[in-house]
Amino acid sequence: MRSLLNKRTIYVTGKGGVGKTTTAAALAKWAASENRRVLLFEINSQGRLPAIFGGPPLGHAPRELAPGIWGANINPRESMHEYALLVLKFELLYRTIFRNKLVDYFLTAVPSLAELCMTGKIWHHHQVTGEYLGTPPPDLIIVDCPASGHAYTLLHTPKVIAELTPPGPMKENAQKMWDYFSSPYDAASVFVTLPEEMPVNETLEFEKKFRDAGLPGGPVIINRVLPGYENAARWAAARRNIQQLDGAARMVESHAIRLARQQEQMDILRQRLPRHQVVEIPWINLEEEQHEAALPVATMLSARFPPDQEPFSD
Ligand SMILES: Nc1ncnc2c1ncn2[C@@H]1O[C@H](COP(=O)(O)OP(=O)(O)O)[C@@H](O)[C@H]1O
Ligand SMILES: [Mg+2]
Repeated sequence: MRSLLNKRTIYVTGKGGVGKTTTAAALAKWAASENRRVLLFEINSQGRLPAIFGGPPLGHAPRELAPGIWGANINPRESMHEYALLVLKFELLYRTIFRNKLVDYFLTAVPSLAELCMTGKIWHHHQVTGEYLGTPPPDLIIVDCPASGHAYTLLHTPKVIAELTPPGPMKENAQKMWDYFSSPYDAASVFVTLPEEMPVNETLEFEKKFRDAGLPGGPVIINRVLPGYENAARWAAARRNIQQLDGAARMVESHAIRLARQQEQMDILRQRLPRHQVVEIPWINLEEEQHEAALPVATMLSARFPPDQEPFSD
């Protein structure tokens, strides 16, 4: 096992809107501040990375987002093009064989082809280094994955292909890819959640699915934790005392209730995932801070992960 920043690949996943992109960007900033060259991938989305780092939407070719951090948006169409070019060598030949409509047809008609092309692209960056890919060899690849269900499908496609295809180069490649994606030594999955029932349930469900499929484990980030829960008992007492004070009382009351629910969900996560490092990131008042959450989150992550500690124990 390796500590988090010493991994080669980190998948960041979780329910929609919980802070995956913020966490992925924060991990990248933290890693870059520790002199790692980071390649940050968005998966076929108009994600928020450009909002965090500035600049235009990300394309298929990596561009430098900040010192030591390169970013790209992987999409199935261009990944397939690139892969076909590697095999076919000639652009003209590619265009003749894979006319646009045909490519779209294949990508929708052949199950898992889109996922296979995209995982192939990630794997390729891990394997092949140098000028050709437009970046220096990355120390760490961070994948800002789609929401849990899609992330699961994406990451375990190489396994499905390796199991289903007859012996040959396709099977061999898929097996090599799967060895890379599932390596508990080189890779980690970071599960981001909120301290709320639905995202916590989804985290538990997908942590199990990932584990059953043989995907690597990793830390759980509880994001946007409301302040004051360390004193939940005092809030509850205040709630009892203040009940006659009406307006303010209602606010205290609802906050006390939210804190208690939040605590319940965080306890569930810790009990159910005892082998995972579970860290909390507070809710940040973005209006007050006037900047993206990724920067303060990066500082918090670096303080919460001891450099020599494994994020997950088998
Ligand atoms: N700890 C936090 N405190 C306050 N706002 C946050 C925090 N983490 C993320 N956000 C905000 O929540 C929103 C969703 O975050 P994002 O990282 O885009 O989620 P996802 O990628 O999972 O959809 C963004 O507006 C982001 O700035
Ligand atoms: Mg996102």
